[in-house]
Amino acid sequence: MIPENRSKADANPTKAFFVRMITRDITLEDCIFDLIDNSIDGAWELAGGQPMSLDDNTDLSPYRISINVQNDGFLIQDNCGGITLDDAADYAFTFGRKDTAETENFSIGVYGIGMKRAVFKIGSDITIHSTFIDEGKPSSFCVPIKVDEWLTSKSEDWDFDIEAAPDLPSAGVKIQISNLTEVALRSFESPRFIQNLRRSISRDYALHLHRGLAIEVQGKPVSGWAIELRQGGDFLPMRATFTEQIQDEDVHVELLAGMAAAPPDSSEPSDDFDDALNRSGWYVVCNGRIVLAADKTSVTGWGTEGWPQWHPQYSGFMGLIVFASRRADLLPLTTTKRSVDETSAVYRQFRPKMRDATKEWISYTNARKQVRVEAVKREEFTKSVPIFEIVPRAEVALPRIAPTPKIPEANVLYSVPKARMLKLASALGNINMAYKDVGIQSFEYTYSDLVGEE
Ligand SMILES: Nc1ncnc2c1ncn2[C@@H]1O[C@H](COP(=O)(O)OP(=O)(O)OP(=O)(O)O)[C@@H](O)[C@H]1O
Ligand SMILES: [Mg+2]
Repeated sequence: MIPENRSKADANPTKAFFVRMITRDITLEDCIFDLIDNSIDGAWELAGGQPMSLDDNTDLSPYRISINVQNDGFLIQDNCGGITLDDAADYAFTFGRKDTAETENFSIGVYGIGMKRAVFKIGSDITIHSTFIDEGKPSSFCVPIKVDEWLTSKSEDWDFDIEAAPDLPSAGVKIQISNLTEVALRSFESPRFIQNLRRSISRDYALHLHRGLAIEVQGKPVSGWAIELRQGGDFLPMRATFTEQIQDEDVHVELLAGMAAAPPDSSEPSDDFDDALNRSGWYVVCNGRIVLAADKTSVTGWGTEGWPQWHPQYSGFMGLIVFASRRADLLPLTTTKRSVDETSAVYRQFRPKMRDATKEWISYTNARKQVRVEAVKREEFTKSVPIFEIVPRAEVALPRIAPTPKIPEANVLYSVPKARMLKLASALGNINMAYKDVGIQSFEYTYSDLVGEE
């Protein structure tokens, strides 16, 4: 007989285990991005919440996200509408989205973990402060989280307290964190971390920055990376749109591919080449966020069936696949927003199209090795065009330059007395003629006499 009080094996996670696990496999930078994603979801909703295609003109210029990191603290503040009190009480702080939770329109957020994981990764003294508009008037609250106390408290419940707070200057969220974790402490004091953070923001939020969103790091705005493909002459990038129905929901897909930079001249490596190499590869965008950039791995197909491994020869290629759906859970997003879920049905469905576009480039660079001069000449007719302005086209077009077949050649080498060579040169009209030309002219002379014209 099992005694009554021994009839259940305790399987509840401990808070400490939970915090350790959720913060383990995500980088600090990706955690900061999770906070940016949340602000953007707020802004996108306020701006109308529609599918983000390259063509839409959603104006994000009223919205600002500022990030400050110091030796002893972290601050992110936005004016993107804030979290409502109801949302805070019912759902924003739960670990993992409840099944009943509505999916936000065209959001980046889907799993319900990003904010919590991010703040835990950064430090242990956290205040999340929100001002939102309630019946036309600003209303505010804050949620202080003292991680150490929360972890050690005997209470079984995992809730955080919501407290009254003064209004922020505009509706938005302000997250302040001190008592930094070891990893945050080390990273925040490194200028390189800040520099890389700015660079990654410039790239991964390029589509939002292009629509006027302001993201500031240490008080300085980050400018978005201009994503461009080269167009002109025989070079026409692909730009095709598709709509798929998944679980009665539309998933919009846009595929772009072509030459972003001329392939490298392996004989003369330069900084430009490195830059082209770094930017080359496939990009995957989910609801506006670049989740995979310049990928050269099997995640985007390289080295999988019917597709060679990435090689520096293919440098200069750029492909983008842009997914958008009202329901972010239908997109190939991973929880860290730093790769794609390769098992996603919609992603797998588009892989062959990505492969076809890539293969065109591979054969172009193969042919180019034989006829480099001709290829370079044609490449000069192209100019960089922002992806938003690329003309729709079902397939990528590249010049068809076949190497001219080689005619087998014979070399002639013989010696004659110099005096006779000079006499013949003079008879041919120029005593200073190169010996080689004397040879060629006498060959032609004899050839037409004995063999005749071709
Ligand atoms: N800056 C913000 N502005 C407005 N709402 C916010 C902000 N930060 C968080 N929220 C609210 O808190 C919720 C929880 O955020 P969290 O990042 O934990 O999960 P998520 O964004 O829903 O999903 P994911 O785990 O995929 O990021 C969000 O869905 C959003 O409603
Ligand atoms: Mg989120």
